[in-house]
Amino acid sequence: MALQEVCRWSTGSDRHGIYILQRAFIVSEPGWVRPGLETAVSRQLKIEVPLICGAMYPCSNPELVAAVSEAGGIGIIQPLSLVYVHGHEFRQGLATIRRLTDKPVGMNVVVEKSSKVYEERMRGYVDSALEDGIRFFVTSLGNPRWVVEKVHQVGGLVYHDVTERKWAEKGLDAGADGLIAVNDRAGGHAGPKGSMRLLDELGDLGVPLVCAGGVGDEGEFERALRAGYAAVQMGTRFIATPECRASDDYKSAIVKAEAEDIVLTERLTGVPVSVIRTPYIERVGTTAGPVARWLLRGRKTKHWMRMIYSLQALWSLKRSSVRSFSYRDYLQAGKSVAGVRAIEPVATIVERFAAAVVRGVSD
Ligand SMILES: Cc1cc2nc3c(=O)[nH]c(=O)nc-3n(C[C@H](O)[C@H](O)[C@H](O)COP(=O)(O)O)c2cc1C
Repeated sequence: MALQEVCRWSTGSDRHGIYILQRAFIVSEPGWVRPGLETAVSRQLKIEVPLICGAMYPCSNPELVAAVSEAGGIGIIQPLSLVYVHGHEFRQGLATIRRLTDKPVGMNVVVEKSSKVYEERMRGYVDSALEDGIRFFVTSLGNPRWVVEKVHQVGGLVYHDVTERKWAEKGLDAGADGLIAVNDRAGGHAGPKGSMRLLDELGDLGVPLVCAGGVGDEGEFERALRAGYAAVQMGTRFIATPECRASDDYKSAIVKAEAEDIVLTERLTGVPVSVIRTPYIERVGTTAGPVARWLLRGRKTKHWMRMIYSLQALWSLKRSSVRSFSYRDYLQAGKSVAGVRAIEPVATIVERFAAAVVRGVSD
């Protein structure tokens, strides 16, 4: 590895900088990455296991993010979850993560244009994260150009969440370095297409592809890498861990649920979100009301409507993640619930997934 490349990762880091620099040399020794685990993503991000814990509002707490990185994957900070749900001042939250791990972590930027206040705040978070040495960003929704411009200036990387080719091309035009292919089994805002179809559709774009959605056990992890994905981004599986601060009721609901229990509802954010079907959802249905739908379609009104939905969702998801389950709560999860059979520590999960790939390669 070139010294330049190593320095790129330690630039701007805090007092751990020298240690990270030393570590980067140590871990880049040949043979460090176990067979089958070295991919374009593990090389670019300098991680041991090509496994990303995707950003999750409201489930990304510092302990979860740090635990995934410490175990050899990479945890992604969700800034609103860090500040608004888990009560950290942003930089103090980053410092908490840094106390728990000195390995790389990433940050999510939901590129939402409907509120100036939100955009300004997000720009501030990105600047602070860059000053604190974070060099990997995952953008979702809008055009990632402003994030790419800031991040590339210091030699970092931006991967963009996409659900189909036209968004992938827009993301790459804006300078994204990799794509996270969000499929129809994902938690959060699922896409319309399956993982293998997305691999076909995006495979010739010349950047690393990450599979997001439906991976809940080590067999699916191994299959995704074998099929040609350079990494997997998981969300749901990591909620059912002791490190995640979600309520025990939420974790148990994930462990008990089957893929058929996951439905898409528009009632939370105005666009389809994957949730566990509960008696409340059965009663109120999964489609937005006629007035909301009409407002969401209008050229001017759609931004206002999206903002109202977003604020409402921020509040109701925060409430339902951290306290015991109440009838009206929404429990976000993807179809990967089918592979989640127990609440297990992050390190156990990451190691089991990694070992399955290593075994598969050596068989
Ligand atoms: C509870 C929950 C919240 C999520 N919140 C976000 C978010 O704030 N930003 C984002 O880009 N993706 C979000 N996602 C998507 C995840 O980062 C990841 O892509 C997805 O969970 C992968 O699918 P899986 O849940 O089947 O593993 C969320 C997913 C879940 C389950």
